[in-house]
Amino acid sequence: MMAIVGSAVGLGNIWRFPYLAGMNGGAAFLLLYLGLILLVGLPMILSEFILGRATHRGAVGSFKQLAPRSRWYLVGYMGVAAGFCILGFYSVIAGWSVRFLYDAVVNAHAGLSQEEITAGFNAFKNSGWQPILLSTGFLGLTALVVFKGVEKGVERWNKILMPLLIGILLVLCVNSLTLEGFREGMTFLFRPDFSKITANTVLDALGQVFFTLSLGMGVMITYSSYVVKSENMLRSKGIVVLIDTSIAIIAGIAIFPAVFTFQINPTEGPDLIFLTLPNIFARMAGGQYVGILFFLLITIAALTSIVSIFEMMTNYLMEELKMTRRRAVWWLFGTLSVLSALCAQSQVEGSGLRIGNLNVFDLLDLLSANYLMTVGGLLIVLFVGWHISEKRLRRVFTSNGRYNNRLFPVFRFVVRYLSPVAVAVIFLSKIGLIRG
Ligand code: PFF
Repeated sequence: MMAIVGSAVGLGNIWRFPYLAGMNGGAAFLLLYLGLILLVGLPMILSEFILGRATHRGAVGSFKQLAPRSRWYLVGYMGVAAGFCILGFYSVIAGWSVRFLYDAVVNAHAGLSQEEITAGFNAFKNSGWQPILLSTGFLGLTALVVFKGVEKGVERWNKILMPLLIGILLVLCVNSLTLEGFREGMTFLFRPDFSKITANTVLDALGQVFFTLSLGMGVMITYSSYVVKSENMLRSKGIVVLIDTSIAIIAGIAIFPAVFTFQINPTEGPDLIFLTLPNIFARMAGGQYVGILFFLLITIAALTSIVSIFEMMTNYLMEELKMTRRRAVWWLFGTLSVLSALCAQSQVEGSGLRIGNLNVFDLLDLLSANYLMTVGGLLIVLFVGWHISEKRLRRVFTSNGRYNNRLFPVFRFVVRYLSPVAVAVIFLSKIGLIRG
C-alpha cells in the first residue's frame, strides 16, 4: 500500500497539477479533474489491480496470460514506452528540486526580489550543464535503488515522510492565509469560469488523472501482482485516490495565493511552482527550514515515483528480454540519461530541440500523459470490461465474495461503458470530431 502511494504521490501532485491548473483557468480545471478522477481514475486503478491480482504478472505478462495468442500484450509495450518518455522529463524536474534543496540549505534566496529569483532560475536552466548533471545524478540514484532492491526501505520511509509532506503543505496553506493574494488565489482555484473550458482543457485534466495516479502503463499492474488476495480492493484503492487528490488540492491552496501575491503569471507553465515557492519561503518566519524540509520531501516523493517506473521497466527487460538485473539497470540508466539530457537541453533559450512549437521536454510531457497513458488506460478498461468473464471479474473484485458484492455491477457497468465512453469522447472532441 505504501509503495503504491509512493508511486502515485510525486511531482505530479505538487509540480504538475498546479502548473496545469494555472494554464487551464484554475477552478474549471479542478472541477473537471475531480469528475474524471471518479469517472475514470478510480475504475482504472481498480482495473489495473484486477489484472495484477488475477495473474500475478507484470505489464506485458498479465495480458499474455489472460489473452494468449492475441495482441493485447502490445498494451504492456505501450506502457513501457510511456515510462521511457516520463522518465526523460521527470528526472529533469527531480533535478530541479535537488537544486532548490541546495539553495534552501545555503539560504540563497534570502532577501532576493521576485525578479532576482526568476533571473537566477533562468540562468540555472540556461546553463544547460547544471540541470543535465542533476538529472543524470538523480537517475543514477534511482538506478542504485532499483539495483539494490531497497524499495522496501524506501517504502518504510514513505510511511513517515508522507504524513510529514502533508503536514508541511498544511503549514504552507496556513501561511497562505496571511498573504495579500489569498482571496484572489482562492477565487482562481475554486470559482469556475466555464468559458475557459476547451477540448484541450479536458484532455489535460484527463492526462493529469492518469499521470497523478500512475495509470495506463502497467505500473499498478506490476505492484498489485504482489498484493495478498484477501484485501478489500475498493477501500484500499479509494484511500490511495483520496490521499493523492487531497495532496494536489492542498498544494493548489498553498501555491495560488502566493502566485497572485508575488504577481507571477499563473499560466507560466512547468516553471510555476519553482518561481513561486522560493518567494514564499524567503518571506516566511523560519522559511529557510520549512524550505529545506519541503524540497527534501518532494525530492523523496519524486524518487519513489521514479523508482516505480524504473522498476517496471527493469522487470520488463528481465522477464521479456531475459536480461540480468544489473544489465537491465545499466542499459536503462544509459539510455535515459541521454533522453533526459536532451530534455534539459531543449529548455535552454533558443535551443533548436523542438518540434513545432513544443520543445522536447514539453513534447514528452504531453505525449506520455495525454496520449500514451490515456490510450493505454482506455485499452486496459476495455480489456477488463469486455474480455474478462463476468464470473472471474466478480471473483477478483470481491475477493471471492467477501467485499463489495453489491457494488460489483456498478463497477462493471462503469468499466464497460462509462469510462471508455468518457475517454473516447474526450479524444474525439480533441481531434475536432465532436464539438462542445
Ligand atoms: N504519479 C506520479 C506523480 O504524480 O508524480 C508520476 C508517475 C509515477 C507516473 C509512476 C507514472 C508512473 F508510472
